[in-house]
Amino acid sequence: MNHKVIIVDFGSQYTQLIARRVREQKVYCEIVPYTHDIPEDPALKGIILSGGPCSVNDPGAPDLDLGPLVQRVPVLAICYGAQLIARQFGGKVETSARREYGRAMLTHDQPSPLFHGVDAKSQVWMSHGDTITTLPQEFHLIGSTVDVEVAAFQHDQLPVYGLQFHPEVTHSTQGDDILRNFLIEVCGIPPEWTPASFIEETVAELKTQLEGERVICGLSGGVDSTVAASLIHRAIGDRLYCIFVDNGILRKDEFTHVLAQYEQLGLNIIGVRAADRFLGELAGVEDPEIKRKIIGRVFIEVFQEEAEKLDGITFLAQGTIYPDVIESVSVKGPSATIKSHHNVGGLPEQMQLKVVEPLRYLFKDEVRRVGHDLGLGASLLGRHPFPGPGLAIRILGEVTAERVALLQEVDAIFINALREYDLYDEVWQAFAVLLPVASVGVMGDERTYEQVVALRSVSSHDGMTADWSRLPYDFLADVSNRIINQVRGVNRVVYDISSKPPATIEWE
Ligand code: XMP
Repeated sequence: MNHKVIIVDFGSQYTQLIARRVREQKVYCEIVPYTHDIPEDPALKGIILSGGPCSVNDPGAPDLDLGPLVQRVPVLAICYGAQLIARQFGGKVETSARREYGRAMLTHDQPSPLFHGVDAKSQVWMSHGDTITTLPQEFHLIGSTVDVEVAAFQHDQLPVYGLQFHPEVTHSTQGDDILRNFLIEVCGIPPEWTPASFIEETVAELKTQLEGERVICGLSGGVDSTVAASLIHRAIGDRLYCIFVDNGILRKDEFTHVLAQYEQLGLNIIGVRAADRFLGELAGVEDPEIKRKIIGRVFIEVFQEEAEKLDGITFLAQGTIYPDVIESVSVKGPSATIKSHHNVGGLPEQMQLKVVEPLRYLFKDEVRRVGHDLGLGASLLGRHPFPGPGLAIRILGEVTAERVALLQEVDAIFINALREYDLYDEVWQAFAVLLPVASVGVMGDERTYEQVVALRSVSSHDGMTADWSRLPYDFLADVSNRIINQVRGVNRVVYDISSKPPATIEWE
């Protein structure tokens, strides 16, 4: 990496967004919590200080000695970061009479490279409780809004800038221009970081890192593991051994279908049929966390047995992506969600393998773009997320082969209909859930007492929050009819209209 920017995280909800916006400018960046040192690195060309939920005047508020940093590289400080600069260099930050939140009009009439090409009046997004009331001596004002005099400022000599507003939020309509000006003009970084350059650099690095090594990789059918494997395969060819396990709780026909796709990609793939083993271990189990643990454990056992059949494996490849990494180092502390979903967390230690994670610094959409450049098809890249424990956590109560088969049928009807109606790509994730209750119905002259299934479809950005999809009534009516007519044993279909939070996406 020849050029990079570090984003210092003070705990803002927008920190990841800043990183995405920087990368949209084709500039590579990494997020570092404010508690970490920023090592000397010739590739480091600029630093962005994020916002944060605290007041700089609070005792124990996040702090960082900015004096040495501003001497090293250009600095762009946003919101909390800007207030920290103001305070550390001798200015004053005070609580605003009222919290300033929402759209505002920025006017700027002082020359500044930050505002090249930005309209004299430009809409920006404010979200802060404190205001800078006095600027430090070596700084001057470059922009204001009606309510906030110190909306933008810069150092008299050094390339150091403070913004009270959030250029990373799309409501700051020219925020992209401001970020581009900082990155390209002020820091002098060429906008060259693209999926193609990422692939080229990563494949070269992997060739060196994995020279003469043999690598094993568990594939899930999902985007991350497939893209990771494809990258490594490009670097070391058939010294990468991929394992895809049929755990009996995949979607209908998924094992054969996905296996065929992997073979087509030229991956050195071993398909393992272990459905009976998983279902045997799950017999009689109703508690969702125990289901997860069993599935995780059996997966590790199966995977290890396969690995032992191969000689000289030294590395385990994983499809870890950047949000997983940031969550675990963030100033907010490790995320509970990520932890409980990390179904095969103990694998590398147990197998005494080194880990290779080529997607460690990519966001999901970047993984998709890299996958696209690697020649992976849209049907693979656009697949909805599917949990490791699969249908087991969508069958409430005991998981049996019959109940799996029933849910597979229902799920397939729902998903195929979404595709037919061109709705599949509109939603983030959709699936069916088999409820542990029977309900009364009537078919012909007969009274029935059969299963209830719930359909769930959500829109989401990252799975952390989600809203239920407003699917058209006609579509829902059609799907409900198809399910009740075609799947024996189901006489009632309901649609889940809960958002996350307070509900979760999965039912277990
Ligand atoms: P929840 O239900 O927590 O789901 O709102 C958020 C996202 O995570 C997926 N999920 C899992 N993925 N193992 C996984 O690999 C799990 O145990 C697991 N539980 C939930 C879920 O499908 C959704 O995309």
